[in-house]
Order: sequence, then structure tokens, then C-alpha cells
Amino acid sequence: MQKTVTLNNGVEMPLLGFGVYQIPAEDTERAVSEALAAGYRLLDTAAAYGNEEAVGHAIKSSGIPREDLFVTTKLWVQDAPAEDNTRRAFETSLTKLGLDHLDLYLMHQPFGDVYGQWRAMEALHRDGVAKAIGVANFYPDRLVDLIVNNEIVPAVNQIETHPFFQRAGYQDLMREHGVQIQSWGGFAEGKNDLFTNPLLAGIGEEHGKSVAQVVLRWLTQRGVIAIPKSVRAERMAENLDVFDFELTDEQMARIATLDTGSSLFFDHQDPAIVTWLAGRRLDA
Ligand SMILES: NC(=O)c1ccc[n+]([C@@H]2O[C@H](COP(=O)([O-])OP(=O)(O)OC[C@H]3O[C@@H](n4cnc5c(N)ncnc54)[C@H](OP(=O)(O)O)[C@@H]3O)[C@@H](O)[C@H]2O)c1
Repeated sequence: MQKTVTLNNGVEMPLLGFGVYQIPAEDTERAVSEALAAGYRLLDTAAAYGNEEAVGHAIKSSGIPREDLFVTTKLWVQDAPAEDNTRRAFETSLTKLGLDHLDLYLMHQPFGDVYGQWRAMEALHRDGVAKAIGVANFYPDRLVDLIVNNEIVPAVNQIETHPFFQRAGYQDLMREHGVQIQSWGGFAEGKNDLFTNPLLAGIGEEHGKSVAQVVLRWLTQRGVIAIPKSVRAERMAENLDVFDFELTDEQMARIATLDTGSSLFFDHQDPAIVTWLAGRRLDA
């Protein structure tokens, strides 16, 4: 039985899913097939990951009814005219995935003609081909600006969230606006020796659980959607097995002490990062 959250438009989204960033295209079909067999129903890919076709093949060969799956992909930064290019990029993703609709379409970066892109995404939602639309990597100022100047409030903001960058205050702000927080890099991709962190390992021992399970339990217990990536079947199963224990308030408070308050990856407010991402355009 999948745990779900209800998005601001009534759509039900699994609280725990499977991410495919950095899985090479040639290994993605196998990995996603194993993830689906393990029980994952939320899949998170992106045009920029170069593996949408492989995700689509795994979906098709799984035989799982479409209505039981929740598929997310993401729009890369589009050249102007963004409205035309966004629709074209959406259709390209849909074709690669072999689907006739998406459950969630995210704007991958808060850059370029964000308003043109968002208007096109609103139209895709109204047309019924994107059941929910949202954003990723939006910092609070940009998210609130998007909300107050447009009709549809993003259903989700997918942001870097892990024990070393916890985003608790931002989660409160998003909740006030009806935006669901989703974590990317929930394990910080193993940075800062996350998987051997003594505090997390100690809490794991108290429950007979691994560090990975403690982290995923901590995220989901906070109401944060998590999408751990693994290419190994045994870890896929381990990462799903987090709903048979509960962290105490004291354990949650201990984990809160690991927060550094800053990114371990990209700072989306750093001009050098904005310039670098703008140079990584994809063809629509
Ligand atoms: N919106 C964005 O800009 C953005 C950015 C980054 C990521 N994302 C999304 O978020 C997803 C998750 O983030 P991520 O892939 O960057 O990293 P992550 O989930 O934080 O970490 C993945 C790493 O952890 C390892 N791992 C997984 N389960 C483990 C376990 N139980 N024990 C020990 N090691 C384990 C994996 O190795 P193995 O594969 O070898 O098991 C891999 O090296 C992505 O796949 C993607 O869908 C979105």
C-alpha cells in the first residue's frame, strides 16, 4: 500500500518514489523495471537526464496499469518563444515516455523565460495532459513571485533537501502557499559521508534500520516526498522499507542538528551557476 499526499489540486502523489538522475540511458530500463517490481509507483525523470525513452520502455513492459503509476518529468530551460517551445518539449517528453499524459510536469530550473514557460505549463494542465504542474529549484523569493503573479499555484517544488540542508523554514512557507515540498538528493548523493554519519547510524541502531532508511523515514515523516536513486535491487527494496518504524521527537531533534543551512551542490542564486545552466540548452 503506497502512502500518498494530496496536492493542492486534489491529485494524489506517492510520498516515496524512485529517481533516475545519473542512471546511464543503457542501464535505466533494467533499473526502472527492478524498481517497479520492488513496488515503486512514482518515477522521477527529466528531459535533461537523457533517459526518458528507457523509462518509457520499462513502464510499457511492466504491464502495470497506467492509473497505478505516477510519472514526473521536467522541462529544461527553453529558448524564447518559450510558450511554443515548452509545448514542443512537453510533447517530445511524452513521446519518449510513450505516454498520453503526465502526472506531474516540473519546470526544472528557475531561469530563462520562466513566465512564458509557466503560461504554457498552465495551458498543458488545463488541456488535461499534465495532471499537476510544479517547479524545481525555486528559492523562496522566486516561488512567491511566481505564485502572486500567475493563476495556478505550483503543486510541488522539488528542491535539494537532505540532513545537511533541511529546508524546514522553507517547507513552512511552502505549506502556507499550498506548495508540496519534494526532496531531491535526499542522501546528498552520499556527500559528507552521509551513509556513515555517526548520529544517523546511532539512530538506525536504535530501530534496527540503515542510515538510508533513517533518512527516508525522517523526510517522509516530515511530509517531504522523497525519490531516492539506486541502481541496485537490494537498495531499492531497502529504501522502500521505511514505514514500519517511527522516529521519536527526540530523534527528529537530533537530526535537526545536522543542518548546515546551505547547498552541497549548486547555489541557484550564484550568477556563475545561472550562466553555466543557461549554456546547457537542449533542443526543444
Ligand atoms: N530537480 C533537480 O534539479 C534534481 C537534482 C538532482 C536530483 N533530482 C532527482 O532526485 C533524485 C534523487 O537524487 P540523486 O539521484 O541526486 O541522489 P540521492 O538519491 O541523494 O543519492 C543517490 C546515491 O545514493 C546511493 N544509494 C542509494 N540507496 C542507498 C542505500 N540504501 N545505501 C547506500 N547507498 C545508497 C546510490 O548508489 P547506487 O545507485 O550505487 O545504489 C547513489 O550513489 C534523482 O534521481 C532525481 O530524480 C532532481
